[in-house]
Amino acid sequence: MLSRLKIQEHIPLAPFTTLKVGGPARYFADAACVDDVRAAVDFARSRGVPLFVLGGGSNLVVADAGFPGLVLRIGLSGIEERREDGKAIFEAGAGEDWDTFVAHTVAQGCAGLECMSGIPGTVGGTPIQNVGAYGQEVAETIDSVRVLDLESNQIQELCNPACEFAYRSSIFNTSRRGRYVVLAVRFALEPGGAPRIAYADLKKHFAGRDGTPSLAETRQAVRQIRLSKAMLIVEGDEDCRSAGSFFKNPVVSEEQYRTLAQVAASRGLEVPRFTAANGQLKVPAAWLVEQSGFGKGYARGAVGISRRHALAVVNRGGATAAEIVALKDAIQARVEETFGIRLAPEPVFLGFEKG
Ligand code: EPU
Repeated sequence: MLSRLKIQEHIPLAPFTTLKVGGPARYFADAACVDDVRAAVDFARSRGVPLFVLGGGSNLVVADAGFPGLVLRIGLSGIEERREDGKAIFEAGAGEDWDTFVAHTVAQGCAGLECMSGIPGTVGGTPIQNVGAYGQEVAETIDSVRVLDLESNQIQELCNPACEFAYRSSIFNTSRRGRYVVLAVRFALEPGGAPRIAYADLKKHFAGRDGTPSLAETRQAVRQIRLSKAMLIVEGDEDCRSAGSFFKNPVVSEEQYRTLAQVAASRGLEVPRFTAANGQLKVPAAWLVEQSGFGKGYARGAVGISRRHALAVVNRGGATAAEIVALKDAIQARVEETFGIRLAPEPVFLGFEKG
């Protein structure tokens, strides 16, 4: 398809995000095909402005001043399916809606993504931060990621190990940030496979029932649990006007955990813990936030904490990015003061670069 890229100017970005804050993009374009992506890259280069690739905007905080470069919304669509060595291979365009794609794989009876039902955003965003929920993460089923390499201008197929997936991270948001534009993602799923009922919330949901739940029931259960925590986007529900989890769950060593446990014990508290990779422990950021004085429903002007989950910073209506960031800073400072742990934010921040 030949590019008919239309470059728009001064387009407000808040409506393209789930948090609904932030100013305009100097330039904005929709990419419907790979040639559009190339044309956008050329445009940004010729103007000497930065390029930002927008997916579903569900993990994004845009600065009040907006972004001085080109925001490229990825609308690459299409889902292809085939069988290969007993696996169901699904290849989805980066612009496909994630939850619609998950629903499709579940309807085809293929296991591997069902626990990630109800996550807002697009397919192309999932490898970037290795999206995960309820006992599954995309790193487990991604076969490869098709990208446009902005250094060589070539399309490349990056295999799973090349993406260096880890907890909420990959080369795309660390060592090679900004180098690639994700065009499509290929997943290898299990035809007729059983759902993964491993996460405590899911086990609780299905407790006492006979037989294994189906993939469809698991998808339904995950969506229900997410809804109860306002982690499912429902129009008009201000508790989900957020960027999802605002902080990563800190991963600590046994020794660090002991120190943390002592601090907590001195306040009569016990720190929840979950096992992480390499003998380390994951501590819920939500708990640290809550125990530092930012409980569910905390309000500070137009911003606050969701009434249904302590890890979601919400825009209660008319908030600015500056207010969101001020609350983030206050939470980080208080958690560090109380527990000696510096929380790392999870969303992408756009337009906050100095200069
Ligand atoms: N907790 C609290 N207060 C709360 C909520 C939770 O203290 O208000 C504590 C509890 O001890 C609970 C623990 O935190 O057992 C874990 O909570 P939850 O199961 O809700 O998950 P989470 O660790 O807060 C992570 C992901 C979510 C993902 C869920 C479910 C991160 C940063 N977040 O949240 O992902 O949906 O697990 O798997 O890893 C996202 O990344 O944006 C996201 C929503």
